[in-house]
Amino acid sequence: MSLQGRDLINISDFSLEELVFILDQAEEMERLLHRDSRLLAGRVLATAFYEPSTRTRLSFEAAMLRLDGGVIGFADPRTSSVSKGETIADTVRILESYADVIVMRHWLEGAAQVAADYAQIPLINAGDGGHQHPTQTLTDLFTIRRGRGQVAGAHIGLCGDLKFGRTVHSLLTALRHFDVRITCIAPDSLQLPEHYLHPGQTVQRTADLAEVISDLDVLYMTRIQKERFADPSEYEAVRGTYVLDPVLLSRAKPEMLILHPLPRVDEISYQVDADRRAAYFGQAAYGVPVRMALLAALLGRIDSSHLPDPPPRQIQYRHDLRCPNSRCVNFAEPYTEPRMELLSEEPLVLKCGYCEQEWRPGKPPAS
Ligand code: NCD
Repeated sequence: MSLQGRDLINISDFSLEELVFILDQAEEMERLLHRDSRLLAGRVLATAFYEPSTRTRLSFEAAMLRLDGGVIGFADPRTSSVSKGETIADTVRILESYADVIVMRHWLEGAAQVAADYAQIPLINAGDGGHQHPTQTLTDLFTIRRGRGQVAGAHIGLCGDLKFGRTVHSLLTALRHFDVRITCIAPDSLQLPEHYLHPGQTVQRTADLAEVISDLDVLYMTRIQKERFADPSEYEAVRGTYVLDPVLLSRAKPEMLILHPLPRVDEISYQVDADRRAAYFGQAAYGVPVRMALLAALLGRIDSSHLPDPPPRQIQYRHDLRCPNSRCVNFAEPYTEPRMELLSEEPLVLKCGYCEQEWRPGKPPAS
């Protein structure tokens, strides 16, 4: 199915063929970076960033500008009508009349889905709370492929805040397509929620980075997501748990790749930056050609009509039960229609179509 006109809300929206297509096109885009391309001339990107961002927003802007497109938007909701109480639905219905594509980052899980429901133009999720960050995953896969030649066959360690780290959730979702071994390295309280695992996908879990580092081909470090903790003392209890420094790194394979979506706080020491295994600054730079490819594909400026249709999915929704997750857009924005995927009738197991949390009514939602 062509990518033209599509949204990218969850990385699972793209099939393996579509992911690979974007990565291949990103290689082409690297060649266009400094060539005065006019591929997106006359097209406008609207950025709606309700949460802080450096790399994601600026690499989207750079991608658009490198292809001669234009950019409008806000990087701080206090400077837009959001501060007057405007809903996501109303904001995107305005933006779509000014632009050809919208990139949105919001603190609520599922916010990008609501935006896509109301906008007729392509909507790209640039991060929705602790849920998903699909374009970071495209960049991560591109970095792994560039560093190792291919993704398949790698033993990948995901380390840090696997509970709230949206980049990890998206990456893990995408990795189900590849023959890889995954080890989740986190303290118990920040371990990966089960519901992010695809049926049949398995991971190993440990809290001890030193124990596993020698076996890894890729180490994906993440920041502990301080802003997502309801209780600051819980953050204090886990801050500084992992610090990758030269001593720890000396136990790793000489070709292990170190990735990090950035920003880092203290989880990778500055001495590691000069190590040739440190791939994180290159990873941030790849965000531009990757997003150039994505924008050009969604705007129909590169032909993707040959891509196979994904297999049809039969999803049964219930619309009568609102999501109990207080971080979910369905909980926080009352005009959004409940959308609960029915996983099982007996016992009743539901999965929210916005935040993906599983819920067994009668039991309190996972914290
Ligand atoms: C990440 C994010 O916003 O989720 N940053 C990014 O987009 N590169 C990671 C983070 O904030 O820790």
